[in-house]
Amino acid sequence: MDKTLVVIKPDGVRKGLVGEIINRFERRHIDIEVIEFTKLKKEKAQELYSVHEGKPFYDDLVDFIVSGPIVLMVLKGEEVIPVIRKMMGATDPKEADPGTIRGDFALDISQNIIHGSDSEQSANREIAIFFPELV
Ligand code: RTP
Ligand code: MG
Repeated sequence: MDKTLVVIKPDGVRKGLVGEIINRFERRHIDIEVIEFTKLKKEKAQELYSVHEGKPFYDDLVDFIVSGPIVLMVLKGEEVIPVIRKMMGATDPKEADPGTIRGDFALDISQNIIHGSDSEQSANREIAIFFPELV
């Protein structure tokens, strides 16, 4: 079974979208293997976003993800990685289709509500950062 790491980012929690987002996954019968409400330490945030180290938005990205509580989830199912990416919508919410999470609830690329792993390799790496027992 495929697995993916989803993060409801601090803006998603601040906007009161936790229930809405979980509801979308539940309605699609996507299995939630683990879910945790938490706040990231800077070291964990840097590890999550290590692929972006050196990019102009990296420091802001790390500062943003540690700026408030988040929700971490491991979801599982057939093709769950592309399914979740479709439900999230484009990285830049201005480009995201209506009906997607970003297309419905965000406008700013730096505050785009949700993260989801973009490949099997990323999913394994990201899940291992937070839930090593699940990889
Ligand atoms: P995510 O990792 O959060 O699921 O988003 P993604 O795959 O759609 O986008 P990615 O390229 O991995 O970028 C990670 C996050 O960095 C922020 N970003 N800002 N200012 C910018 O040009 C810029 N580009 C990316 C976004 O918040 C994006 O989700
Ligand atoms: Mg990404």
